[in-house]
Order: sequence, then structure tokens, then C-alpha cells
Amino acid sequence: MLAHNRVAVLHGVNLDQLGRRDPAIYGDLTLDRLEQRIGDDARELGFEAQFFQTNSEAEFVERLHRLAEVSDALILNPGAWTHYSYAIRDALELTGLPAIEVHLSDVQNREEFRKISVISDLCLTTVSGLGASGYRVALERLLQELTP
Ligand code: DQA
Repeated sequence: MLAHNRVAVLHGVNLDQLGRRDPAIYGDLTLDRLEQRIGDDARELGFEAQFFQTNSEAEFVERLHRLAEVSDALILNPGAWTHYSYAIRDALELTGLPAIEVHLSDVQNREEFRKISVISDLCLTTVSGLGASGYRVALERLLQELTP
């Protein structure tokens, strides 16, 4: 069992609408079902997952400000904020925590604006286009990172 095993899973804008958004792009899981699946995978790998979603950029930033007090690592899918929010980038940097960027869809093969991520260089890696399984890949990468 990992000594530092608390992983925050943060979802940003419009991700509360999973299940209604195009299932061909985002899959058919609701956010609740997605979080259940991530929670199961996390437990299996020895993590305690903590979930948070907001459509408010300010709340997302404030959550990041407090994150290092309660978490050892994070997985974040900021939704569209990924592509332009320097405020989220700066707050992510402040956490000082190992982070993985996840996108359900294959952001490199969609519209041009989705190819840009203002957070990717602060993350250990980016996982995109794998749907819900991408979070499992992210957890496995964090396990490697946190295992002494
Ligand atoms: C997303 C990709 C973003 O471009 C988009 O704005 C989202 C979801 C994804 O998980 O594929 O809201 O982050």
C-alpha cells in the first residue's frame, strides 16, 4: 500500500454534462458512472480517490490552491479550460503535486483549438482519446511515480 495515496480527480467545465454530450466523442457514461469506475480502479491500485467537478473557473482555481493540503497527486480534465486558462495553469503549478492531464476524446485529432493545452508541460503526461480507460492509464502512471 502506498504511504501517500490520496489522488484528486478534478473535472472542469461541462464535464457534469457527460451522458448528454455526443457519446461518439465522449462515451456514454455519466460523470457519476465515470467517477464510480475511476474510484474502483483507484481502490484496486491502492489509491484513495477524491472527486470534484465545477463549471466555475474560480472554484476550480480555489480547489487547486487548497489541494496540496489534502492530496498527494492529481488527475485533471479541465475540459475547454485546458486550451486557454492561464489562471488554471498558474494554480496547477502552485500545487507542486504530480499531475496527469486526461481527456476522454482525442484532442489532437479534432478542431485546431483543442490541440493547444496550456497545462501539458506541467503534467507528467497527457492521456487522451482513450475514454474512461484513460483515467486508469493515468492512475497507473501515478502509481509508478509515487512508489518509492
Ligand atoms: C475534453 C476535451 C475538451 O476539448 C472539451 O472542451 C471538453 C472535454 C475531453 O475530455 O475530451 O469539455 O477535455
